[in-house]
Amino acid sequence: MITVIGLDGAPLTDRAAAALSAAVCVAGARRHLDAAAEHIAAGAERVPIGDLAAATEAVLAARGPSAVLASGDPGFFGVLRSLRERGAEVEVVPAVSSVATAFARIGLPWDDAVVVSAHGRGDSGRGVRRALAAALAHPKAAILTAPGTAGPEAFLPELLRAGREVHVAQRLGSAEERVTRVADAGAGAVAAERSWAAPNVVVAVDPARAIAPTMAWLPGHQGAPSNWALAEERFEHRASLITKPEVRALALARLAPRPGTVVWDVGAGSGSVAVECARFGARAVAFERNPEDCARIRANARAHGTEVEVCEGDAAGALDAAAARLAPDAAFVGGGDDAVAAAVCAHRPERIVVALASLDRIRPLHDLLTSAGYTVGGSQMQASRLADLPNGSLRLAAANPVTLLWGADPTPSRPERHR
Ligand SMILES: C[S@@+](CC[C@H](N)C(=O)[O-])C[C@H]1O[C@@H](n2cnc3c(N)ncnc32)[C@H](O)[C@@H]1O
Repeated sequence: MITVIGLDGAPLTDRAAAALSAAVCVAGARRHLDAAAEHIAAGAERVPIGDLAAATEAVLAARGPSAVLASGDPGFFGVLRSLRERGAEVEVVPAVSSVATAFARIGLPWDDAVVVSAHGRGDSGRGVRRALAAALAHPKAAILTAPGTAGPEAFLPELLRAGREVHVAQRLGSAEERVTRVADAGAGAVAAERSWAAPNVVVAVDPARAIAPTMAWLPGHQGAPSNWALAEERFEHRASLITKPEVRALALARLAPRPGTVVWDVGAGSGSVAVECARFGARAVAFERNPEDCARIRANARAHGTEVEVCEGDAAGALDAAAARLAPDAAFVGGGDDAVAAAVCAHRPERIVVALASLDRIRPLHDLLTSAGYTVGGSQMQASRLADLPNGSLRLAAANPVTLLWGADPTPSRPERHR
């Protein structure tokens, strides 16, 4: 039997202390082994967790009861997963999660927060991007940071730029506990606190939406919105320059917006695609050169309670400028010429959708996507909506046909797993 003991700074429970003193092998981070040292039997083997797999093997191979020390709740982004994966029989003595403690210190409820882990395997850049995308698409987020490449400094600039009130909760439950509020977008505040004590949790809150108006029954992101492919009337738009709901529905299906993804809406017009992507939990970025349309996109985003980052200016330059911060997982090209579509392709979104009214552009853009290595598909969308006739019967009112081309990267990055 392996007893998995969570530590949160509170004294060990009797059950945890008894299991620890009976253990012939105890694994845990060095700080946890030190914190519990007085309870560990003199002859017990101590296995510092550096490589989780090796430590897990050591406790599994122990000839007698063993124990694993973990931070907070071991069942929440913790060691319990890898033990159970390997078939271990466990008893769990949980403690309070660092996320719960961080929100308690700030005095905010967290049943409406998204909790994201930046502990990506291998590609830490992707782990950071994904965590940031999810955190910024939601009014309240906690980020389980990973020291080194995915520490608070990787998140603060973007969170502050978006006007978030940020708290860095460090070494919770220890004598060095410190919860620092960083609400100032100025570089000074960040620079002054450049070295953050680990471990830490970053909490980011939109000050205007710190308390959800109603209590949700489902924590965090609420899943797919209750309705989508919304009617044109739900958006401000200029002279019907808006992707129609029938077309938008298929585009959304191909873009697959969801928490942790960045979606570009290029030549955004009303921003209806960007807004709908944001409603699915994606971090949405709209590129639009017409300043009045940009204002409309912002208004549409606000009206739908979403956040859309608007990059105003000609797409050619704006895409490159945005790419470093906002590399796309998916992109919708609803405006712009073939050169704009080529520029979007160059940023290698895993999924790309192009809407075309002109037949002449289908072949070149099909070839562009194919030669960029995408698996390409397409469909002409020709919708006729039901409408009333004066005599009370129904007619079909034809909308202009639009061709959607889409490309999917046949080798998308595999989903990462938590270590
Ligand atoms: C693998 S996760 C474990 C989470 C843990 N099971 C829990 O419930 O808190 C590790 C991350 O939890 C956070 N963390 C764990 N202990 C912490 C502490 N004492 N103070 C602040 N953050 C902590 C940090 O973000 C750290 O990178």
